[in-house]
Amino acid sequence: MNLREKYGEWGVILGATEGVGKAFCEKLAQGGMNVVMVGRREEKLKELGESIKERYGVEYKVVKADFSQPDAAETVFKATEGLDMGFMSYVACLHSFGKIQDTPWEKHEAMINVNVVTFMKCFYHYMKIFAAQDRGAVINVSSMTGISSSPWNGQYGAGKAYILKMTEAVACETERTNVDVEVITLGTTLTPSLLSNLPGGPQGEAVMKIAQTPEEVVDEAFEKLGKEFSVIAGERNKQSVHDWKANHTEDEYIRYMGSFYQD
Ligand SMILES: NC(=O)c1ccc[n+]([C@@H]2O[C@H](COP(=O)([O-])OP(=O)(O)OC[C@H]3O[C@@H](n4cnc5c(N)ncnc54)[C@H](OP(=O)(O)O)[C@@H]3O)[C@@H](O)[C@H]2O)c1
Repeated sequence: MNLREKYGEWGVILGATEGVGKAFCEKLAQGGMNVVMVGRREEKLKELGESIKERYGVEYKVVKADFSQPDAAETVFKATEGLDMGFMSYVACLHSFGKIQDTPWEKHEAMINVNVVTFMKCFYHYMKIFAAQDRGAVINVSSMTGISSSPWNGQYGAGKAYILKMTEAVACETERTNVDVEVITLGTTLTPSLLSNLPGGPQGEAVMKIAQTPEEVVDEAFEKLGKEFSVIAGERNKQSVHDWKANHTEDEYIRYMGSFYQD
């Protein structure tokens, strides 16, 4: 699909450096769009930018920002001012394992900033632009923990639920316009951050077997853009949510999710 013709010259990927964010950058570049790549590791983002420029002949901009900081969104908005913006995806997340009372408040605040506040500022800002020009697209990234909640990782699950429900609502609000909005809910996906937290032995091998690649989930997200508000990535994840909802109570589902981390 020629994304540039449909949506505009530039897209912004919020959390672009690796994994799912990197796969989004590649997809935009393949579709002819220039990419604003946002993350904390400037050098790595520049490498990725040079690589997509060379392979697809598109332009790129790197923006260094930490979404846990209150001024992060404004830094991004300044960098995209005056560009013909047509796409945004919020990919970055922050999690921390432990019970609510055992997690320092500063960590809770950082998670709320990354998973909720900066997300919402960016979504609001680019939706205003896209709605005014009646052109553009948004794909935000949620998690299965946003459907089930996530004991011992509660702030993360709650943040992903916020992204899920906020994006679904906006997708419906924009249905009869030329702005396409979608949320994709991921299960286990082979990103560098997942791999760095993966247990060794049979447990880790089992995770590797069921995991999707970032490219697979991003391909599905674009296939369904403009057709579905809310997408659960991959057949296995879709089936799993369907089975849990059909055959178990909410409490059983929540306990099951908690069983991965219980101390
Ligand atoms: N991996 C999985 O199994 C899985 C499962 C379910 C849902 N998801 C969802 O998929 C998305 C991507 O997951 P992921 O594992 O690739 O996540 P990630 O590594 O946290 O995020 C992707 C990129 O975002 C950037 N980033 C992270 N924190 C940031 C911050 N505070 N400020 C600015 N940029 C930041 C990172 O680059 P820098 O280090 O350069 O900042 C990173 O390359 C998330 O929304 C997650 O909730 C993932």
